[in-house]
Amino acid sequence: MSEHRLRTLITAERIQERVLQLGEDITRDYPGERPLYMIGILKGAVIFHADLARAVRRTVRLEFIGISSYGKGTTSSGEVKLTKDLDASIEGADVLVVEDIVDSGVTLSYLLGVLEQRKPRSIRIAALLDKPERRMRPVLASYVGFSIADEFVVGYGLDYAEDYRNLRDICVLEGVG
Ligand code: IMP
Ligand code: MG
Repeated sequence: MSEHRLRTLITAERIQERVLQLGEDITRDYPGERPLYMIGILKGAVIFHADLARAVRRTVRLEFIGISSYGKGTTSSGEVKLTKDLDASIEGADVLVVEDIVDSGVTLSYLLGVLEQRKPRSIRIAALLDKPERRMRPVLASYVGFSIADEFVVGYGLDYAEDYRNLRDICVLEGVG
């Protein structure tokens, strides 16, 4: 991992500020008492999920789902499979899928297909990062932290071959992608 250079793109302070704003937006958009199921996609979204959940001022239920796209380079291969399912039924529930980054859109369009079959009352996406230039499938996130250019980023949950997830800042990993 030492042959790569890291360049800070979004500082921890900016991330925290933006996550608080997203939490306010979500609180405002889901008035009422019914539980909101926040589904974090393992593993990249766990840190964003944990911070976003605490920025939402209403009842939430935390769920996780595991998805893997085959291959572990810097681009997804287009094939997706479910590696860990939800613990709870989401039938009739408001669902917010929490993802680290929308890139090609392949992962989320697959996952939305799976979740919609379970008849939730509503389903929306919160993504920390969006790389709109790379989209291959039409996926629209209702809540986006930051739109970024087509560069490979790590930190705040995002990895390169499982490294760098614990960085507090989001950094461009130079020399890959
Ligand atoms: P998609 O299916 O192409 O939208 O890819 C989404 C997944 O690819 C994300 O959940 C990430 O795991 C991974 N990914 C895409 N871009 C990056 C990046 O810049 N850094 C780290 N992981 C990324
Ligand atoms: Mg991921």
